[in-house]
Amino acid sequence: MSIPFIDLKSQQARIRDKIDTGLAAVLDHGAYIMGPEITALEERLATWSGAKHNITCSSGTDALILALQGLGLKPRQGVIVPSFTYTATAEVMPVMGAIPVFAEVDPVTFNIDPTQLDAACAAARDADVKIVGIIGVGLFGQPANYQALMQYAEANHLWLIDDAAQSFGASMNRHKVGTMAHVTCTSFFPAKPLGCYGDGGAVFTDDDGIAEIIRSCRVHGMGMNKYQNVRIGMTGRLDTMQAVVLDAKLDIFAEELVLRQQVADRYQDKIGNIVETPSLAMGASSSWAQYTIKLLDGVDRDAVSGKMQAAGVPTAIYYPVPMHCQPPYSHFPVAGGTLQTTNNLSKCVMSLPMHPYLDADTQNIIVSALKDALQSAG
Ligand SMILES: Cc1ncc(COP(=O)(O)O)c(C=O)c1O
Repeated sequence: MSIPFIDLKSQQARIRDKIDTGLAAVLDHGAYIMGPEITALEERLATWSGAKHNITCSSGTDALILALQGLGLKPRQGVIVPSFTYTATAEVMPVMGAIPVFAEVDPVTFNIDPTQLDAACAAARDADVKIVGIIGVGLFGQPANYQALMQYAEANHLWLIDDAAQSFGASMNRHKVGTMAHVTCTSFFPAKPLGCYGDGGAVFTDDDGIAEIIRSCRVHGMGMNKYQNVRIGMTGRLDTMQAVVLDAKLDIFAEELVLRQQVADRYQDKIGNIVETPSLAMGASSSWAQYTIKLLDGVDRDAVSGKMQAAGVPTAIYYPVPMHCQPPYSHFPVAGGTLQTTNNLSKCVMSLPMHPYLDADTQNIIVSALKDALQSAG
């Protein structure tokens, strides 16, 4: 019997009645697009995060595009992004005719290293690209160092986006994700810490002007109404039915974050001495979207994951190829010409099953499988 990498069934069993009732209500009132559940969810998400505005949308990728539209990104302008991230973080710039400039990450937190931003700016200058903003990513659930990133952004007249697709629910020094950058974007992809049953996302900001543009862009750049267009936009709305799912999941989200931390603590206890386990920066909490370990130099990762798979334990590699090495992105500027830490991480990271319903007995099986696999691979 195989252990699930993520267990959405146990979660659904807890909230199924509320989802069924909520979906039946949508079927009754018929407002499938921008129904009252959307407004209620946006108010709830804004309150949760402490951000003034929440605007739900069609995916985490669209949240990033809407944020860039709200910030007025123009073709050929440059945006600093980490290369060790999911495709979408970098993809949204070329989609808008703009240029991602790849920066190095910190080897411990996996997040963009604020001390390497000057090198990214230099690479942009060499390529005759004007940097206008930075996108940080809360990779695997831990927020980036937004205090340092914000200081750098303000000193250099740049805007800052938090790509919190994986880190919604986390915090830094009691500031919740949603409030640490000029604009925060998240994803409600089913496997995310707060996921719906399809594609979905949201944007958070305190800025009234940016929020207004994003609301307009989400409906084709609408003005006073849908058939008056004041800018170029897109179809970027969250479905009403997905708001029902998210509302039910928000009821148990705080408890699930505690459960995820307990799972992370148990892993730390059991494997902290045999592999490099994730560690949180001072003052940070993580939403533990992934539990990502680093294998020691020389360990054959494919052999380890193959052995674990054979023992019924799934693993995943996030991310095997850094963005600056992907063919469609290889011509964009790279800080310092190469990103050694990023390259190294992509070769040694491995993610273990992680979800709030992972019990201690199942974790023991995962740990034994990892130990056996390491022994035979070493
Ligand atoms: C860091 C990061 N950014 C953006 C996205 C895009 O989100 P979506 O799949 O909802 O478009 C993801 C999704 O995996 C992500 O992990």
